Amino acid sequence: MKVLVINGPNINFLGIREPEIYGKTTYNDMLKIIGEYAEKIDVCVSFFQSNHEGALVDAIQNAYYDKIDGIIINPAAYTHTSVAILDALKAVGIKTVEVHLSAVEKREDFRQISYVGKYAEKTITGQGVNGYLQALDYLKEQIK
Ligand code: DQA
Repeated sequence: MKVLVINGPNINFLGIREPEIYGKTTYNDMLKIIGEYAEKIDVCVSFFQSNHEGALVDAIQNAYYDKIDGIIINPAAYTHTSVAILDALKAVGIKTVEVHLSAVEKREDFRQISYVGKYAEKTITGQGVNGYLQALDYLKEQIK
């Protein structure tokens, strides 16, 4: 089973950016934690991060050709603006879980809309890095 973990803008700055909101774990630490957990539950995981909307769309389209079984996506700020990312997910039709490190539902009004959430079959918020592990568990359970 192949899962692609996609992270959007500024997630590469984890550990540096607003640690009181996003925690002190760095992006590389996070990849290590997710990678080790995936190995433990026998999921083949790959990662993609970009600060550019079109690059995220390309990564979603490539997931189709790579026969990826499940996508875990934290679109970061593009969550709240990107119809292009929503359309890409609909185009490839791959089972998707949306993850946010912070509890977006308790934050500013402009974070209350999620375009990706209109496609994702599950959304996990406010669990920090653990949210990605919960998403892996969910996909492992769903895709058999
Ligand atoms: C985020 C929440 C978004 O509102 C924000 O723009 C991010 C990160 C999160 O993981 O909590 O960059 O997606």
